Amino acid sequence: MEVPTGFLVVSLLLCFATTGYGVTFTSLQRTLVVTASPAEGQVLKAGDANITVTWAFNRTFPSGTDADYRTVKVKLCYAPISQKDRSWRKTVDEMKKDKTCQHKIVARPYSASNNTFTSTILRDIPSGTYFVRAYAFNGNDEEVGFGQNTNGKLETNLFVIQAITGRHASLDIASICFSAFSVVALAGFFYMEKSKGKSQK
Ligand SMILES: *[C@@H]1O[C@H](CO)[C@@H](O)[C@H](O)[C@H]1NC(C)=O
Ligand SMILES: *[C@@H]1O[C@H](CO)[C@@H](O)[C@H](O)[C@H]1NC(C)=O
Ligand SMILES: *[C@@H]1O[C@H](CO)[C@@H](O)[C@H](O)[C@H]1NC(C)=O
Repeated sequence: MEVPTGFLVVSLLLCFATTGYGVTFTSLQRTLVVTASPAEGQVLKAGDANITVTWAFNRTFPSGTDADYRTVKVKLCYAPISQKDRSWRKTVDEMKKDKTCQHKIVARPYSASNNTFTSTILRDIPSGTYFVRAYAFNGNDEEVGFGQNTNGKLETNLFVIQAITGRHASLDIASICFSAFSVVALAGFFYMEKSKGKSQK
C-alpha cells in the first residue's frame, strides 16, 4: 500500500507543532525588574552567606502585559565566565534545553510588586560567577517574561559564590584512600594467585 506524500508531510508538521520547538529565551520580554543584594564582584560563601532578591513588574510596559503571569521562579544563573568549556552549563535559546540557570532560589505566585525573598546560599551550589534571573510563567507552566539583576550582555552586578571546600577536600582524601587500597588489594591478590600456582606445581 502506498502512503500519500501529502499525508506524510501533514503528520510531520503535526509532530513539529506538538513536540517541536518550545519557548525561546529571545522571544521573552524583559518585563520584571530584579535586584539582588550582593555587590558587584562580592564573594559569598555557600552554606553561610545570605542573598536577598526583589522583583516587580516594570510598569513602563502597558498594564495587562502581565495578565497571564501566574508564578515566578527566581534562579541563580552561571555568568559566561563560569560556562566556558562546560557544556553542561551551556546557554540554549530553547528554554527547555537551557542550562544557564540551574539553581532555584524560590518560586512564588505572581505578584506585580512587593516581592522580596532572603535565603542562605545552599551548600551544594558550586563555585562560580553568578547572576540572578526571575522567570514569569503562565498557567501552562510556559515562560512568558523575565528579569535579571544584570544587563543584557550579562556583564554587570555579577557575584562570586565560593563552595564549601572542606567537603571536597575530605571527598578527595577518601577517593585517594580508596584507590591506594585497591592497588594494594590487587597486588595482594596477584601475589596470592601466583603463590597458589607455584604450590600447585
Ligand atoms: C544569614 O541568615 C541567618 C538567618 O537569618 C543568620 O543566622 C546568619 O548569621 C546570616 N549569615 C550571614 C553571613 O550574615
Ligand atoms: C522598564 O522597561 C523599560 C522599557 O523596556 C526600560 O527602558 C527600563 O529601563 C525598565 N526599568 C527598569 C527599572 O529596569
Ligand atoms: C507594596 O508596599 C507598599 C509599601 O509598603 C504599599 O503601599 C503597597 O500598597 C504595596 N502594594 C501591593 C500591591 O501590595
